[in-house]
Amino acid sequence: MSKVSRVDHIAYAVAEGMIEKWAWYHIEVEGGKLTKRVDDVRPDDPDSSMKLWCIDFESFGVVLVEGIDRNKKSQVTAFADCHGDHSVQHIAFDTMNLEQFVSHAISKGVNLRGKQLVNNDGFGELKQLFGKGYAKQNAAVMSFPEYVERPKQGVSMSTSVPQNTGKNFYQRIEHARNTGDQSTLIDFSLMPSDWIPESSQGVKKSSSSKPIKHEEATPA
Ligand SMILES: [Fe+2]
Repeated sequence: MSKVSRVDHIAYAVAEGMIEKWAWYHIEVEGGKLTKRVDDVRPDDPDSSMKLWCIDFESFGVVLVEGIDRNKKSQVTAFADCHGDHSVQHIAFDTMNLEQFVSHAISKGVNLRGKQLVNNDGFGELKQLFGKGYAKQNAAVMSFPEYVERPKQGVSMSTSVPQNTGKNFYQRIEHARNTGDQSTLIDFSLMPSDWIPESSQGVKKSSSSKPIKHEEATPA
């Protein structure tokens, strides 16, 4: 059974001066609706900050982030410099029960970046938790997953996990960046060496590496 139910939102890091342009694209071309606009999420931070705009598509959301550089280059500027304008910083996946998912993930060796947060983002109330980067790299420029839980059928969420302890997420990435923490989401040490995907047991495996000719390909 799937443990994540859908894409909740996609966060794109955009280049300097581009957040208005990409917001126009997502709103006027794709039909999204601006639900949150913060032009400086860390006004008192002398080092760096970011702009954060949320655009709702009802079944999922788009989050645009643009770095604000002060004494230091923002982690968001660093991400866009590395990967290009409008690059995917993270994708958030919805779960039925975040605590249950987290227990399961940890049992498989997943490394998370701090504890759960409870927030109200541009799409409503949520519990959220971030994974470490997919690959061993500077935390500011590596993409990562986020796992969330939204209230179901208007019922407010409860949790047994201590909330919002320690640093917020921007600070957690800054801390990893400053301390050179390049630890990854998963090192696969708990993956059995003989593992095969369950779905492949009934699926005919092709032994041919011959490329499929264009005219043989099944139309999408
Ligand atoms: Fe997110």
